[in-house]
Amino acid sequence: MNLKINSFEEYKEQYKRSVENPDRFWDEIGKTFQWQKPYDKVLDWNFTGPDVKWYLNGKLNITENAIDRHLEKRGNKLALIWEPNDPQERFVRWTYRELHGKVCEFANALKNQGVEKGDRVVIYMPMIPELTVAVLACARIGAVHSVVFAGFSARAIADRINDSKAKLVITADGQNRGAKQIPLKRVVNEALENTESVETVIVYDRLGWSPQMKEGRDIWWNDAIEGMEKECEAEQMDSEDMLFILYTSGSTGKPKGVVHTCGGYMVYAAYSFQNVFQPEESDVYWCTADVGWITGHSYIIYGPLISGATTMMFEGVPTYPDAGRFWQICDKHGVNQFYTAPTAIRALMGKGEDHVLSYSLDSLKVLGTVGEPINEEAWRWYYNLVGKERCPIVDTWWQTETGGIMLSGLGKHSPMKPAHAGLPLPGVQPVLLDNDGNEITENEKEGLLCMKFPWPGILRTTYGDHERCRNTYFAAFKNHYFTGDGAKRDKDGLYRVIGRVDDVINVSGHRFGTAEIEEAINANKNVVESAVVGYPHEVKGQGIYAYVVCDKMPEDEDDARSSIVGTVVDEIGKIAKPEKIQFVTGLPKTRSGKIMRRILRKIAEGEPDKLGDTSTLLDPDVVEDIVKNAK
Ligand code: WT7
Repeated sequence: MNLKINSFEEYKEQYKRSVENPDRFWDEIGKTFQWQKPYDKVLDWNFTGPDVKWYLNGKLNITENAIDRHLEKRGNKLALIWEPNDPQERFVRWTYRELHGKVCEFANALKNQGVEKGDRVVIYMPMIPELTVAVLACARIGAVHSVVFAGFSARAIADRINDSKAKLVITADGQNRGAKQIPLKRVVNEALENTESVETVIVYDRLGWSPQMKEGRDIWWNDAIEGMEKECEAEQMDSEDMLFILYTSGSTGKPKGVVHTCGGYMVYAAYSFQNVFQPEESDVYWCTADVGWITGHSYIIYGPLISGATTMMFEGVPTYPDAGRFWQICDKHGVNQFYTAPTAIRALMGKGEDHVLSYSLDSLKVLGTVGEPINEEAWRWYYNLVGKERCPIVDTWWQTETGGIMLSGLGKHSPMKPAHAGLPLPGVQPVLLDNDGNEITENEKEGLLCMKFPWPGILRTTYGDHERCRNTYFAAFKNHYFTGDGAKRDKDGLYRVIGRVDDVINVSGHRFGTAEIEEAINANKNVVESAVVGYPHEVKGQGIYAYVVCDKMPEDEDDARSSIVGTVVDEIGKIAKPEKIQFVTGLPKTRSGKIMRRILRKIAEGEPDKLGDTSTLLDPDVVEDIVKNAK
């Protein structure tokens, strides 16, 4: 299956065809996949429901496309390379045939534990090859996987288990993160005190620890696979059967479960992977993301494996044992396509050029970034120093909800401009709208980024709450999917995504709702209320700035601060720690009681002279006080 576009001319021609006749375009691509029973219609949709269906009545199993289909020609080709946290530890290399055996074996183990098609399985694991096995084994038997990033707290896991009523959890004793070892099973144990649906926990032994195992509920991975066959028939799935749930934050309330289905997601993950990264048959591709995020789902596991590529997984962190680790790994495994996040690039930039210059990096062909806007300085460092000015940078804009990359260059075949994601992939129809929902058709304008036509990877619903899906993405502008991002289009039609226009903060490429963090802060016993905003952060892109009202002004502010940070870590996880906490006597509110975030944002950004009109405030004095004590 080769879906690759080979020149800019070809891109333009395909783009045109994809818009003029989307059905025919996606049919030609869809046909190149393996279906147990062919689909009878390519697309049925409306954005009012929303109700979007791709490859209707097609029957398939995504793992047959990701593994079985390759066995004949690529059985001995490497499917997966795993590089451990500790550079001295032996790495793992599995061929497609080996991966097939492991996935089937674990799929049988899941069945043996009573998991059936449609059941939800929560996966809370380190970045080890068994994580990939767990994900694919779920897909093999038609269980819906819900991967929870291993940095989330017990409370966050419990919320996700309860929302999806998961029956089984797959975890490990603990995980390596640089010099640290972090418990996972202990956190799961704590989470399960507040859940009812989980019947079984499978625990992989990564660290040789002896966590508490509950009799009759918990079983070690190795015991679970004992005696299991290495063949397992793939469950027949409908195109629109659920493949996975992935929770993500929005501007209101608790994180919601974004739902992706089998057929369209499969096609879009593979199509976008091949075109953006332009891998050749013997290439080694490496995405540094965690499988706990959509990037890991689509571009560590599904996209590359469906395409028959060799995908690499890394257990550790970019700065361990030193800030040259990424580049050392690139040389060690001969990495050809390298995909990372701007926050990682900025962190490494701060550690000096020598860490890069010690390695040849000759194998690199394409460099990618994802997760947040990349600033021009970081872009140039990446392009000049890492890519030696010979590797195109693909700045890939997309979202958990889009399933795959939407705006990006296609390897070397696209115009490239620092800090610009660029042109839409074929089949993607972006528009910029003004606040009233009118389309801005001229270039060199800024607006709200929306999509006016579906693509196969679009989310289908939010788990258990379709209304919320409509309200969040399809209600703001009639007949459009609203991304929540603002963007500019330059004179050549290249898009530059500026950032969120809603109450969402992007910290190191991780998405949090301000309401979600405020709710966590408010769970602290001394806190009366709080307001959270993002502020520019040199490495993280955005940092979290919290204004907190306590029942009385704390005597020891440092004490009060660490207590609040502790609460946030318990409620969400370490990744949501507020960088700055300012204790205030009150929050700026309108007479109707709405917090004026615009003002708090300006203060956090260090521009208290640009507060604008404050006359509608209930108590303007509060602002003066906040400005005076700002961090
Ligand atoms: C939000 C989606 C898609 C996987 C990683 C994050 C921001 C993502 C870019 C980019 C500018 C970007 C957007 C988007 N974003 N990629 N290349 N340039 N902004 O997934 O957690 O679903 O977050 O990340 O604001 O809406 P996510």
